[in-house]
Amino acid sequence: MLREKFFAKGGGGITGEIVMPGDKSISHRAVMCGSLAKGVSRVANCLMGDDVKATIKAFEAMGVKFEFDSPSSFLIKGRGCRLEQPREIINLQNSGTSIRLITGILVGLNLSAILDGDESLRKRPMKRVAVPLRNMGAAISLRNDNFPPIDILNSSGLQAIEYTLPVASAQVKSSVIFASLFVEGTSVVREMIRTRDHTERMLAQFGADLRVEDKEIKIRGGKELRPVDIEIPGDLSSAAFFIVAAIISQSGGVKIKGVGLNPTRDGAITILREMGARIDIENERVLGNEPVADIVAFPSVLNGVVIDKNLVASAIDEFPILFIAAACARGDTHLRGAEELRHKESNRLVTMAKNLRKLGISVELFEDGLTISGGNFKSGEIDSERDHRVAMAFAIASLRAEGVITINNAAEISTSFPNFFDVAETLGLRLSWA
Ligand code: S3P
Repeated sequence: MLREKFFAKGGGGITGEIVMPGDKSISHRAVMCGSLAKGVSRVANCLMGDDVKATIKAFEAMGVKFEFDSPSSFLIKGRGCRLEQPREIINLQNSGTSIRLITGILVGLNLSAILDGDESLRKRPMKRVAVPLRNMGAAISLRNDNFPPIDILNSSGLQAIEYTLPVASAQVKSSVIFASLFVEGTSVVREMIRTRDHTERMLAQFGADLRVEDKEIKIRGGKELRPVDIEIPGDLSSAAFFIVAAIISQSGGVKIKGVGLNPTRDGAITILREMGARIDIENERVLGNEPVADIVAFPSVLNGVVIDKNLVASAIDEFPILFIAAACARGDTHLRGAEELRHKESNRLVTMAKNLRKLGISVELFEDGLTISGGNFKSGEIDSERDHRVAMAFAIASLRAEGVITINNAAEISTSFPNFFDVAETLGLRLSWA
């Protein structure tokens, strides 16, 4: 159990070789696909953070059995399309991926349910999934027609859909794809900007009838999923914290082994390299249907850049730590076209701007981005507003701080990276509990 408040002591270097816990997005999908397959799937190196645990619990509530043979690997006794009607409210806690994807699955299976979450999830927009699912024929009600609880009332007579995503969101895309699996006919989902494609890659492994051409996905419903053994790559979004740690630290370097390097996720590496970071990619290989590699990062001199809008989707979860890199760079870094950051576990544009300013960094805030002027971190106290990635980003910032950074409201680090503190301390970061 992580505590709410910790101190990160300023300065120092980091060195070492580490592995990351399993990728969060892929872990959720492995649990979902395994539950929907007919037969026994095996999942290895699953992220056992609170978000994925919430997904597992949701499927347990629908009669799926999980048998653990280690803390992060288990068998899933999938039930095909015969999941049980949940009898109680399903609480997805902090997890946007869980609530949005499971809504699509429940609609596809014509199960009614109420899906809810914690204070943060209750502030996140759900109309984006309700709109296409309603177009398919589902009756869904939302609080203020946008927020959880999501009440799935009836999805009988569901029909295939042709849908162009109005927002670049892998969660919306995946929700519609999952619903389409159970509908007769061919559904077509189009993206304007490519988002992470783990759902498409994994469903192909599970035998779904799905074709991807450029930014168009065609799903022919009605095909039963077969069980698969999945080994989950290390999470690039978690690795990003230690990649930046190595880059901004005064000495040393870090090797992170077995990290997922899906091209729809690697925007942060491109951005950091453009800023001048030295990042080497070694030992590239394929694990299941996902590319993985070892990543080696070294202390580097960073320069401010104008971030290409086309990289926003593929770096979407890495902006908190990219903003820390920008604060350590020479000159200004400009980000625009990133309005979606307002809809994450916190409003990441506002939370990051506020906290960077508290530590002496100049930030200009826009509706869809930030301009950050590189400078020096003072010691001070920040409020991560229960956002795991904000808390971890400021822990890393301490490497360049004059004194101690105190980080409040940090317990949610356990949603995506339960052993963050152990890894950080192994490398030489100096963190301590309040
Ligand atoms: C995710 C998609 C992204 C990302 C989130 C995980 C996924 O969200 O921010 O952390 O697993 O599909 P959006 O689809 O809202 O962009």
